[in-house]
Amino acid sequence: MLDSVAISRLDEILAEHQGLEGPLLPILHSVQAAFGHVPQDVLPVIAKHLNISKAEVHGVVSFYHDFREVPAGQHVVKICRAEACQAMGADRLAQGVQKALGCDWHETAGDVTLEPVFCLGLCACGPAAMVDGQLMARVGVDAIMAKVRA
Ligand code: FES
Repeated sequence: MLDSVAISRLDEILAEHQGLEGPLLPILHSVQAAFGHVPQDVLPVIAKHLNISKAEVHGVVSFYHDFREVPAGQHVVKICRAEACQAMGADRLAQGVQKALGCDWHETAGDVTLEPVFCLGLCACGPAAMVDGQLMARVGVDAIMAKVRA
């Protein structure tokens, strides 16, 4: 349930995007920036505002991995799952980080959220990861864990 502050902020976001062509994605990005995730309760409000179905809004939110349906932890670890990194041991890296954190993809353990990502542009330096927005090349479990525990 959205409180009055959240409803007010959502109204502002919708007004900021009034008249924009193809406003759904920009609105969802703004909602995530404002709330840290895309709360389920905003979906019917956005759908009604854009005169589309809630299912359409939900479909977009669930299609794009960057949209979170629950708030992320203080730290976000993204590990590349694309082919070039897989060839360099990304699966082993992912399993090691999952074990060290004690969580699976899209889960949060303590203050760390673990997410898959499909190419970070470091294909020649795999396995690659991103921790709190900072790229890490040829990275191992220890380096990732040191970064989130620093
Ligand atoms: S395949 Fe991993 S960074 Fe491109």
